[in-house]
Amino acid sequence: MALTDREIIGRDDANDVDAIIEIAKANANPDEIVHMVEDNADAIFTWNYDKGERLRLDRLYEKAKTSQWNATTDLDWSIEVDPYQALNLQAELQIGDPSLQEDPTSPLYKWGDKEWEEFGLQSSKWRLSQFMHGEQGALLCTAKIVETVPWIDAKYYAATQVVDEARHVEVFARYLDEKLGGGYPINPHLGLLLDDIINDSEWDMTYLGMQIMVEGLALAAFGFMHDFTEEPLLKKLLRYVMSDEARHVAFGVLSLQEVYQDMTLAEIRHRQEFTFEAALRMRDRFLQQEVWEYMGVDTREMCKRLLDAPEESKVFQRMLFSKIVPNCRKLGLLDAGEGWLREKFTEIGVIEFEHMPDTGAEFTDYDLSEEDFEAKQADMNAAAASTAVGDE
Ligand SMILES: [Fe+2]
Ligand SMILES: [Fe+2]
Repeated sequence: MALTDREIIGRDDANDVDAIIEIAKANANPDEIVHMVEDNADAIFTWNYDKGERLRLDRLYEKAKTSQWNATTDLDWSIEVDPYQALNLQAELQIGDPSLQEDPTSPLYKWGDKEWEEFGLQSSKWRLSQFMHGEQGALLCTAKIVETVPWIDAKYYAATQVVDEARHVEVFARYLDEKLGGGYPINPHLGLLLDDIINDSEWDMTYLGMQIMVEGLALAAFGFMHDFTEEPLLKKLLRYVMSDEARHVAFGVLSLQEVYQDMTLAEIRHRQEFTFEAALRMRDRFLQQEVWEYMGVDTREMCKRLLDAPEESKVFQRMLFSKIVPNCRKLGLLDAGEGWLREKFTEIGVIEFEHMPDTGAEFTDYDLSEEDFEAKQADMNAAAASTAVGDE
């Protein structure tokens, strides 16, 4: 009944670099315009219209209705952007392991300013593109949740999220097109994950894959990018998107808490396996194979070096999990079934975030009216960083 690693992630060793590259090659489709995925779920009507039966979801819905913003008029699209400076990520954020610059056998050792500048641009384009594709995944997933969730409060809330996600796709697409000169196709690892989420027949799996995993990672990543960028348009855009995303992750946590209470161990195990698969696909995508290819660097060599790098040098990669792990803990997924997921998260080096604040509670910190946002965000990032390096 319990699945092997090979059945869950398509390989026996999570760090098998050849398999990771092979999966990406086999699933890359750069010329594709339309992508079809079978959606196996039933659409569900409810005749119980009692609004507020699930009070916390009702509150989120009310909050969402008064927190809408307009991507066309609330952002100043006339701002001129230097694409090379837009994201302004430091080298360790871009490559995960700063020692790759200093090691004479590293493919990056001979890079001069010109290569680093080009890499900075390509990496920014690639990164924002993947978030844009993920936002479209969220758009489709929440439209699906409107259909499949049996509770009226959740249908109401999910409907507001559909509008939020449309706006997010809109702003990232416009920013990439007008300010960075275009983007990248979807990364195959991310694509596989989104397909799996849409494909699943059980409504709570859409929540787990999208609201907890994909959006949890996005919320952490937007927080770091918001901190680093000094480009005013991107900074404001990220600030606005984050105020929505925090509600979305909270929606996932609050809904799943109720469902998981009544599940059997076998059902929970299936969710744990899916969580592990999602975590690994997201980690694999951050190897940014397409960018190494563009830069003419040996992709296999780079992926291998990034995977083999010591855990302490992968601080920023791991920090992307700083929202996911505490939310999984709150849902009881870490320790159910003799702690299977705890072991897996330990293997991939992200378990230390389990005691960070979960998003079911902290979403109000992201509110657009929150005056202390910058300070709170800086604190959150600092806490995640110090947890990642283990000097708490
Ligand atoms: Fe979004
Ligand atoms: Fe979202």
